[in-house]
Amino acid sequence: MVQVSAGLEGVIAAATVLSDVDGQAGRLTLRGWAVEDLAGRARFEDAAHLLFDGFFDDLPTDLAPALGAARVRAFAEVVALDTALAARDPYDAMRALLARLPDGETLHDALVLAAAPAVFTAATLRCRDGQAPVAPDPALPHAADFLRMIRGAAPTEGEARALDAYLVTVCDHGLNASTFAARVAASTRAGLGSAVLAGLSTLKGPLHGGAPGPVIDMLDTIGTADNAVPWLEAALDAGERLMGFGHRIYRVRDPRADALKAALARLSRTAGALPGRLALAEAVERAALDILRRRKPDRPLETNVEFYTALLLEALGFPPQAFTCVFAAGRTVGWIAHAREQQAGGKLIRPQSVYVGPRPRAAA
Ligand code: ACO
Repeated sequence: MVQVSAGLEGVIAAATVLSDVDGQAGRLTLRGWAVEDLAGRARFEDAAHLLFDGFFDDLPTDLAPALGAARVRAFAEVVALDTALAARDPYDAMRALLARLPDGETLHDALVLAAAPAVFTAATLRCRDGQAPVAPDPALPHAADFLRMIRGAAPTEGEARALDAYLVTVCDHGLNASTFAARVAASTRAGLGSAVLAGLSTLKGPLHGGAPGPVIDMLDTIGTADNAVPWLEAALDAGERLMGFGHRIYRVRDPRADALKAALARLSRTAGALPGRLALAEAVERAALDILRRRKPDRPLETNVEFYTALLLEALGFPPQAFTCVFAAGRTVGWIAHAREQQAGGKLIRPQSVYVGPRPRAAA
């Protein structure tokens, strides 16, 4: 009997120089850097440079001006954002606009794709609220301009640094589901736009990048710390999964959760309003971990990146419906780098299935 590896668990499908997820030790290494060292120090542009290095011959030392110009190029597509598209889920609207970009191979194509999620998310959120889109300022750092394009006003330095910490933290993560999808598309020699769209579509679901919105719903419904245990027990009794907990690879705490919690703590020192929310989240986290340990003693289920993503993006003023768009704004550079790596050295990805349907019928 042929063994099927459900969910491809344990299958090694690529060699990569980009990132290493050590699930037993709870370590994420991005091209030789521990994620917690990179987040909080590097800007998004630096992370993009780190990932693109070696995959484009014409990579400049400082990516910031080229990424700024790429935001301006992406903004030209915002004319296609009509009221019907703006009324859709922000993720779907962003993906539809992204599909208009060239399916090319150059560094310029890559940078426009990398810049686009921020530009399209900002424009979509503003149109949804009946406001005119704000054009990019190519002279600003990417994270600061992302927030400015949404708000129509410059963010504080602390807010821009917090968004940088988030985008850097999520920029790449081994062969996660969306990166695998991007590599499959790239392995057919489709262009970078196709690889990014494959990754984008795969990121959307709540078992992957769609979890942080529901984390906010969970915190809002729980409301107070003393309601955490009964609510969580009832959700699990109803067969639900707790969003923001569990991971395919990590058997200990996801190191990105700590990187984001640290970014949140830095932000709260400058922004004020967070302590109550953070205290509720910590109480819910403690209760959830206790309950999961008791109910699933054989399956270590720890906090994953999405739990503190939700809190950080909420603190930065993003509406929960846009959280996955912001995740994509960080992860796109990872998809692009993996697509280039796959094309440089990889074969067509084409696994096999085992047929379990009926045998051919005898012709009458
Ligand atoms: N809450 C409750 N039970 C859970 C959870 C959870 N969050 N996660 C896993 N389990 C349970 C499953 O019900 C299953 O139990 P069973 O063996 O009794 O049926 C067991 O743990 C194993 O679950 P699998 O689905 O086989 O584990 P897998 O490694 O495939 O799942 C996943 C990983 C999808 C992330 C899962 O933990 C989950 O659904 N978490 C909630 C959603 C979430 O937070 N997603 C974001 C992940 S991070 C990211 O992708 C960026």
